[in-house]
Amino acid sequence: MEERIRIVRMTGDSPHVATLAAWTHDAWGHLHPGRDVETAIELLRGECGPAGVPSVFAALAGNTPVGTASLVSDDMSDRLDLTPWLASVFVLPAWRGRGIASRLVQRVEEEARTQGHGHFYLYTPDQQPLYRRLGWRDLEERVYRGEAVTIMCREFAIPNTPAG
Ligand SMILES: CC(C)(COP(=O)(O)OP(=O)(O)OC[C@H]1O[C@@H](n2cnc3c(N)ncnc32)[C@H](O)[C@@H]1OP(=O)(O)O)[C@@H](O)C(=O)NCCC(=O)NCCS
Repeated sequence: MEERIRIVRMTGDSPHVATLAAWTHDAWGHLHPGRDVETAIELLRGECGPAGVPSVFAALAGNTPVGTASLVSDDMSDRLDLTPWLASVFVLPAWRGRGIASRLVQRVEEEARTQGHGHFYLYTPDQQPLYRRLGWRDLEERVYRGEAVTIMCREFAIPNTPAG
């Protein structure tokens, strides 16, 4: 049951980081030719910040990681004008369809929003309906690294800082 799932911030020394990096390297390593899994693990450790950008989260069932999502400053090499990004959303196949990715996305959204980011981006080839349900809107269709993708945007109302 999904109520047993905890969404937890990863620190660089967590034993789970290597597991999460192996999943995302398997899923998206082809987008980074020449990057081996050891390099992917070290890069992910470097993204395990204490708050804000960058941050890495895991969904844990007991103490077993079953999903992950990250908040990073850039995720599309030729769109450095857009920042920050929701990246590396992944749930193990046996745990899909229970709302775990939705909870991970909402946790990363909360992190971006509370750090004062009014706009927040992602790109996806095929998961647009999931993100639309969570309040994201389509921003741009494009081909990126040989794949047709949609850049999507989530906007937050950031409260004005009281004067004085
Ligand atoms: C895409 C992915 C992250 C979704 O993970 P997930 O945990 O299954 O996502 P959710 O459960 O939050 O939502 C998925 C579906 O379950 C449904 N769902 C959500 N909560 C549910 C619940 N409590 N009970 C039953 N179904 C639920 C959602 O409505 C959604 O329906 P859909 O199949 O029509 O889209 C996962 O399939 C994955 O890791 N895929 C490979 C990597 C990938 O494509 N990542 C996204 C890159 S942009």
